Amino acid sequence: MPLRVGILGGGQLGRYLCQAARKLHMETIVLTSDPESPASHTADRLVIGSLDSVDAATRLTAASDVITFEIESIGPEVLLSLADAERRGKVRVAPGVSVLQKLQNKALQKKWLVRSGLPTLPFRALPATFPRPERLTRKFGLPLVQKAQLGGYDGRGVQILKTEEDMRNFWPVPSVVEHYLPNAREIAVLVARGHDGSLMAYPPVSMTFDPVQNVLLEVTSPADVSTGIAKRAEAIATYAVERLGGVGLFAVELFLSAEQTLFINEISPRVHNAGHHTLESCPTSQFEQHIRAIAGLPLGQVTQARPAIMRNLLGATAASQTEPKLNADPGARAENVFVHWYGKREPRPGRKMGHITCLQDEPGTARTLLNATIETLAPQLAIAS
Ligand SMILES: Nc1ncnc2c1ncn2[C@@H]1O[C@H](COP(=O)(O)OP(=O)(O)O)[C@@H](O)[C@H]1O
Ligand SMILES: [Mg+2]
Repeated sequence: MPLRVGILGGGQLGRYLCQAARKLHMETIVLTSDPESPASHTADRLVIGSLDSVDAATRLTAASDVITFEIESIGPEVLLSLADAERRGKVRVAPGVSVLQKLQNKALQKKWLVRSGLPTLPFRALPATFPRPERLTRKFGLPLVQKAQLGGYDGRGVQILKTEEDMRNFWPVPSVVEHYLPNAREIAVLVARGHDGSLMAYPPVSMTFDPVQNVLLEVTSPADVSTGIAKRAEAIATYAVERLGGVGLFAVELFLSAEQTLFINEISPRVHNAGHHTLESCPTSQFEQHIRAIAGLPLGQVTQARPAIMRNLLGATAASQTEPKLNADPGARAENVFVHWYGKREPRPGRKMGHITCLQDEPGTARTLLNATIETLAPQLAIAS
């Protein structure tokens, strides 16, 4: 009987996890509240329900041999029920409930980073009610960054407060504050940890973000940083994942300061947008690597065949959209340009609708090809060009 992989979450990450599992002859069951989610069409079966519903999680558990996550904001009761099912030998959970509990809350994660001796920006964890937040600027200065402890993703849940005036918009939610790192560059390292403790890191990538929405825009792999910085980023990320001890793929986001110091920004216990290029640029994609790890298979090779640039296709308008023509021939626009579309109906501003990966030896050529492809797609797809 094929291994049954249960996935909590039905987004695009789940969509590619399902495809990778199928390639390895496994069966997938996706828990999502939306029957039309990006992963719904690639899963073998669906459990329709909320990620906070213990009942839905129990149905997923009954149908699965191993459970994993494509999103970290899973309700606390669901996590407890998964831990209980695992204790009773009903299912395996990877990367593990305790790992998820540690990382899904930004305050707990930062405390763990500090305890582990890993480099991260100084911070303060705050409760929902904190009188006179403007006092925080004495320690952290301006701009100051506030991050909701729970539930944020793609820049939602993060705000950069630039002036004393902005401090009036301080959110009354449990949060973490830290100083704003000016002129920082951003790097990510994807690290897989197998059942046997083996560790495998993809080459570090550099990332650029939309400055207003803090959403990831573009990924360059390998990162355009010195070999020394790349090696150090890889060493920090690998050590962090080793210490975490979970099984699966992890994404370690780092800042590189103007003074060339590396700080861990955050760690995600899952596949990540920074690794989409691996679908075409590496012998083992991040999605296959995650499935291999949680299934107890040996990890695959991660040597990158060609340099890659990946650009997210972000929604531009709230106009509703009919079936995009793009799906007809997604890979045929230009050689080594790969267009992916997630099948989301509503192109909300800043929403990740798809992505394009371009494999070229020259980053300049890659960017020209990407821009040309986006220009042709933008009018028909309501994406930002
Ligand atoms: N202290 C900081 N200094 C500068 N930029 C920051 C800082 N914290 C966050 N950002 C920007 O906001 C983005 C999103 O923040 P992050 O903590 O990674 O939250 P998310 O969970 O939304 O990914 C970062 O990738 C970075 O571009
Ligand atoms: Mg982030």
